[in-house]
Amino acid sequence: MHTEILGHDLRGLRAAAELLARGELVAIPTETVYGLAGDARNPLAVARIYEAKGRPSFNPLIVHLPDIAAAGRIAVLGPEALALAHRFWPGALTLVLPLREDSGIASLVTAGLSTVAIRVPAHPAAQELLRTFDGPLAAPSANPSGRVSPTTAAHVADPDTGLGGRIAAVLDAGACPVGVESTIVGWTEGRAALLRPGGVAAEEIEAVLGQPLLHPVANPDAPNAPGQLTSHYAPRASLRLNADKALPGELLIGFGSVTGEMTLSESGDLTEAAARLFDLLRRADEAGRPLAVAPVPEHGLGAAINDRLRRAAAPR
Ligand code: TXA
Ligand code: MG
Repeated sequence: MHTEILGHDLRGLRAAAELLARGELVAIPTETVYGLAGDARNPLAVARIYEAKGRPSFNPLIVHLPDIAAAGRIAVLGPEALALAHRFWPGALTLVLPLREDSGIASLVTAGLSTVAIRVPAHPAAQELLRTFDGPLAAPSANPSGRVSPTTAAHVADPDTGLGGRIAAVLDAGACPVGVESTIVGWTEGRAALLRPGGVAAEEIEAVLGQPLLHPVANPDAPNAPGQLTSHYAPRASLRLNADKALPGELLIGFGSVTGEMTLSESGDLTEAAARLFDLLRRADEAGRPLAVAPVPEHGLGAAINDRLRRAAAPR
């Protein structure tokens, strides 16, 4: 299959919407990372997503919608969910909510669960596409399963490390501004829980809820919650964490005062580091040397960055 690169002008958006309506897959820009989108109501399109990613079928997908009203037609938003939606949508927050019986979402999207993950993306190209397509888009990150998430169209289109040749098109809108996936919040026994740290800091969410988020313990044998497969965001090379200097042969990725051959952020800015993270891991990996990365503070976006780094460093 030839993978077409579409611009995010009116023509490109229409072409993308037409492909999606035919059940084809289109990788789309969001403010977090590129997503591999398919019509969430079309079981065949959803099956193609799992197939193209080589993803274990028990790992459910996020449904992308243009606004809160559209979300309410697919899932039930309780008072806390509504408060979070009003504060953070459109944006880098995903809510895991009870699925409505009449949602029309293919059951493969939720892998048969009674909950559905929903996000309203802020990226203008994603918003315009959702409105042109006029339906729910299931979209996991547009990388082969277990690989680093893509933050540019070129990452997606790469035939070796991406999905080039396996999907109909990529809607190219440049680099993703946030650079790490959305934060995922779900509810267990009525309490809000942080299922995956991401682009919205947990502290900001807790400020809206007026109480701390639960932190469920990851169970690697039951990966029904986000990214619980231990080795997930994997570069090919090994990765050593909390390094303040390189061991012989290592390529050191710096942060702040730790200077490396590359840096997540020379000034120690967590937003900049998040935006660069995945592209930098890819480029560093091309050197074919073991990687080491400087310590990154655990607050704000640092929690999401460290989560991805720990997964990239996990034994596999
Ligand atoms: O920023 C993002 O969230 C990107 C962009 C494209 O929106 N998407 C993304 O999707 O990261 P993905 O599929 O790579 O990660 C979604 C995570 C998965 O780890 C999955 O387990 C979890 O969401 N998830 C989806 N539905 C769920 C559900 N009903 N209950 C618990 N976890 C769920
Ligand atoms: Mg992913």
